[in-house]
Amino acid sequence: MSFDLVLFGGTGDLAWRKLMPALFQAFRHGTLPKDGRILGIARDDLTNEQYRQLIQQRFAGVEGAKRPSPEEFARFAELLHFQRLDLSRPGDYGRLKDRLAQRNADVVLMYLATAPSLFATVCEQLAAAGLSTPQTRIVLEKPLGHDLASNREINDTVRKAFREEQVFRIDHYLGKPSVQNLFALRFGNALFEPLWRRENIANIQVTIAEDLGVEKRGAFYDSTGALRDMVQNHALQLVCALAMEPPISADADAIRDEKLKVLRSLRPWTPEAITQFAIRGQYGPGTVGGEPVPGYRDEPGVSPQSTTETFVALRAVIANWRWAGVPFYIRTGKRLAARDAHIVVNFRAAPHAIFRTPLGAANRLVINLQPRDGLELHLLAQGQDDRRHSQSLTPVHLDLDFDKRFGAERVGAYERLLLDVIDGRLNLFVRSDEQEAAWRWVEPLLDAWQGNDADLRPYAAGSWGPSAASAMIARDGYCWSEEL
Ligand code: BG6
Repeated sequence: MSFDLVLFGGTGDLAWRKLMPALFQAFRHGTLPKDGRILGIARDDLTNEQYRQLIQQRFAGVEGAKRPSPEEFARFAELLHFQRLDLSRPGDYGRLKDRLAQRNADVVLMYLATAPSLFATVCEQLAAAGLSTPQTRIVLEKPLGHDLASNREINDTVRKAFREEQVFRIDHYLGKPSVQNLFALRFGNALFEPLWRRENIANIQVTIAEDLGVEKRGAFYDSTGALRDMVQNHALQLVCALAMEPPISADADAIRDEKLKVLRSLRPWTPEAITQFAIRGQYGPGTVGGEPVPGYRDEPGVSPQSTTETFVALRAVIANWRWAGVPFYIRTGKRLAARDAHIVVNFRAAPHAIFRTPLGAANRLVINLQPRDGLELHLLAQGQDDRRHSQSLTPVHLDLDFDKRFGAERVGAYERLLLDVIDGRLNLFVRSDEQEAAWRWVEPLLDAWQGNDADLRPYAAGSWGPSAASAMIARDGYCWSEEL
């Protein structure tokens, strides 16, 4: 099978940080179809050779085995080509069409790694130039809009040019092996399913903590914030994977239909619920990994009066039979104590206490997403700790480390997703109705937080976020896992 990957934003940040390394890995692993071409698109005036040299610089800083040897890069570079294109000039799309026609590949992927404000223009121009053909697939990066209305607008424009099954909306969390394992855990094993409901589960906690700050993306982040950047997409997709009903098959729409039902079951926010169960924070100066780091408002590109949240903790309520009364706590933030994404499923305590140990002490399943990928089942056992009281139990846990089991060098998220687009597999991509339902749910929070700093809580860089996040969950009688 032959493919052309047309990479809009071919010299941009995403191509540089994620896509080129992922394409190179797929090339190295031999999974990228041999008859392929990667056509970088940008306004710059570069020859193919100059583009290859530019991309080679990307790999210069890579350490260890991931760094290609000069010979290996030279072979990869044969795939790399460049086309100058000004996104607003129709004539440039005509030239692109001619270039693609010369090769007439089986599959043409239009990867829009550009600012989302350009998506509509590019789609319109592609359609006008006759570049939307049955062979075409279009890949859209997040953020797809900044609220429900702008998301709908993009989806409507895309829909005019492409059918839904040609549209690949990326949420790179779905490409992570650890997130796919979540589906495997729930739907590949019958063990957990009978327990996976309100009768047995007290609450579920989803944490996506980052120790990094906003890096060089200050200006982008300042107009985005953690709710749009992480909750509307990544965190809600994790909630869907945790809460959805078993799909009738592994087909893309069977999975997406079930995810959509979860998003539609999320109880809408009321002003009272926002006050009590939606916490936002912004990091101040602090210490991360032993190094002093500046506060958010001192980051390059960020307004010194910024009211943008860099931390969010929420209580989501899924109003259906399976989950009635089970809070789903979501927490994410920049400059937290560690890079650590994990899910904790807290099972209910035994209904009647015959031991002395507090019953909340174990009874939980921890799904580690990153940097470790694995499962921990925390149980109570008869330990040796207290020789006088044979009735006091000790928490122990079963620990399954997928990195050790399968090797840490598994297919990366972008590598997986790029190969899926080439193969036309939509399972790990987000449908427009899912996206709209997710925007609809976060929108009252966006409105409440827009342009004001009421209850915007400061937290020190390197901490676990504002104490209000702990107070929120404590009100329900629970605590975050690191507070146990
Ligand atoms: C991106 C966000 O979608 O995800 C970034 O825009 C964030 O702000 C990143 O850092 C986190 O991804 P990962 O794979 O490092 O957890």
